[in-house]
Amino acid sequence: MDPTKTTSKNGPSRRTILKGGGAAMGTLGATFVNAQDAAAQSSPSGETVPTVRFTLNGVERAVTHEARVTLLDLLREQLHVTGTKKGCAEGACGACTVLLDGERVNACMVLAAACDGRTITTVEGLAAPDGTLHAVQQAFIDQDALQCGYCTPGQVISAVACIREGHAGSEAEIAEWMSGNICRCAAYPQIVAAVQQAAETLGTPQNGSSGAVQAMTAPAART
Ligand code: FES
Ligand code: FES
Repeated sequence: MDPTKTTSKNGPSRRTILKGGGAAMGTLGATFVNAQDAAAQSSPSGETVPTVRFTLNGVERAVTHEARVTLLDLLREQLHVTGTKKGCAEGACGACTVLLDGERVNACMVLAAACDGRTITTVEGLAAPDGTLHAVQQAFIDQDALQCGYCTPGQVISAVACIREGHAGSEAEIAEWMSGNICRCAAYPQIVAAVQQAAETLGTPQNGSSGAVQAMTAPAART
């Protein structure tokens, strides 16, 4: 049994635990609750449904969710921020990579409840407010570093962190530090070239000097 799997997104327990105050906010169709609604609630089945608050792509969010839901399912199924992809759902493919307080993590392996008070960046949060792509996104286009594109959001997020960590000094180093992101289309040469291009654009920090990667605070999520 997949421990990260949630019940149907249209299931009655989820609908009934969500408050409609912010549900029509923007295009996200998200399931928000008021910021002051801090108390955990109970679903009809009696399951604890905590409220988690975090900053997602520069926007503060408060979401009530089932206790077992992962960050990946919260993003995709409740907030409808679907740039982050689900591949294996068991921490093996990297399709779900996001930045959590600036560190790359597999969102399928992180409980949403563990994200309270933290900062999350998905691929939707990388571009500038005027639409200018992040250097890594532009490099993936320039280097034609995708085929089907399913792995690409995770690759891009991972590349952002890889460069900030100072692990983009050579092709071999990039391949090593991007190895957690699988590409079934085997676009690896182009991906490495894209990371190299972006590293040159951004300026590669000294290896290991970055410590904790700075949290990104792009101003708005895009879907
Ligand atoms: S979906 Fe999370 S690592 Fe594969
Ligand atoms: S581009 Fe298809 S899986 Fe990577």
